[in-house]
Amino acid sequence: MDKQTEKYKIAVLASGRGSNLQAIIDYIAINPDSLIEIALVASDQPGAQALSRAEAAGIPTLVLIPGDYPGKAAYEQSLAGRIKEAGVELVVLAGFMRMLSPVFLEIFTNRVVNIHPSLLPAFVGLEAQKQAFRYGVKVSGCTVHFVDIGMDSGPIIAQQVVPVLDDDDPESLAGRILEQEHILYPRVIEWLARGRVQLEGRRVRIKRLGDQI
Ligand code: GRF
Repeated sequence: MDKQTEKYKIAVLASGRGSNLQAIIDYIAINPDSLIEIALVASDQPGAQALSRAEAAGIPTLVLIPGDYPGKAAYEQSLAGRIKEAGVELVVLAGFMRMLSPVFLEIFTNRVVNIHPSLLPAFVGLEAQKQAFRYGVKVSGCTVHFVDIGMDSGPIIAQQVVPVLDDDDPESLAGRILEQEHILYPRVIEWLARGRVQLEGRRVRIKRLGDQI
């Protein structure tokens, strides 16, 4: 069989720091055989550090500000339209601080993923690392999942466990989880690019290398 060479275009949506975006950029740079191509970085925040990271890497950027639209539906329609125009196959949320409604999700059905800094379904929503620390769990971690209309509730693709140490504080725990996010997210996107991710109801299977696609 011919080697798969066609690139798999993704859009990364980010509202802030963009360290996960940077991890994907770096992953592509050090893995020339990667099939991932970041076609677009979009943000709802004109000052997002993610945008300068994209610009530094020569990636097209887009800023769409929700307040410039008559409502959420119009905003999401516009965002989805611009992403489609860029020929994108997968929308990657990386610290995008907005819930997406069915208006967007029905355009990209099962083609939106997110990374969350806890072992879902525990500790959904904001400050998941702090929630886990305060609860007193002994392990936490990060989860990459498909996005559905709920809060951090879509089918789980992959998780990485991170131990909570006796001398941790919420910041040190968050830092060690973030290190694992940066490893896990590009790896999962590469699986998606290679058609290795199979969704069966809520269960996701990762096809082994060499399995017939
Ligand atoms: C990460 O902790 C991610 O898990 C969560 O938002 C944060 C984004 O960080 N969804 P960054 O902008 O990628 O640095």
